[in-house]
Amino acid sequence: MLQKQFMYWCEKWLRLIMVRIAVRVVVTICLTVGILGIWVSNTPISNAQALVSNSVAVNTQEVSTASQLKATAPYATVYRSPECTCCGGWIKHLKAQGFRIKDFPTADMDLVKRKYNVPDNLTSCHTAIVNGYVIEGHVPADDIKRLLQDSPNTLGLSVPQMPVGTPGMEMGNRKDPFTVFSFDRNSRVAVFKDYPSSSTGSVGI
Ligand code: CU
Ligand code: CU
Repeated sequence: MLQKQFMYWCEKWLRLIMVRIAVRVVVTICLTVGILGIWVSNTPISNAQALVSNSVAVNTQEVSTASQLKATAPYATVYRSPECTCCGGWIKHLKAQGFRIKDFPTADMDLVKRKYNVPDNLTSCHTAIVNGYVIEGHVPADDIKRLLQDSPNTLGLSVPQMPVGTPGMEMGNRKDPFTVFSFDRNSRVAVFKDYPSSSTGSVGI
């Protein structure tokens, strides 16, 4: 009888201890999960906030770089005959390539060419001034950009006359070969860039 009672109490205590342990385990698990939950939910938010502020910074930087580029884009002061239509085509090409334009329709283009020392054999329809360089005729914008970068001894560039296929002188697919010449103050002329013919078909003029 005594033994039975003893066993009964032992069982009761064991059960009580087991229940206590179980409760502790459950509480510990709940606390851990709760803390982890808070940490996990906080981390992405702060990351997202960092991302947002980063992207705002990048965007602001992009905008300011774009406006800086625009503010530092070179001006092309273009003198052209008021009737010239291909000059308008060349101006459009320069604008599309990021240049800013000051347009001066001028009756006496010979005077302009003399003033800016354009060699007689290099003349074309319009004369432009870009950062102090003289640009005569339908010179591609890429060549002007290269000139602005690394040609300190050059007075200017020219594409003499008006070759078909140059910027502003487009006629279908026809592209005649042409040369961009450079010239200095003493009218010394050199080849700046050769453009071979790249016709893919011919269009009658
Ligand atoms: Cu022209
Ligand atoms: Cu022109």
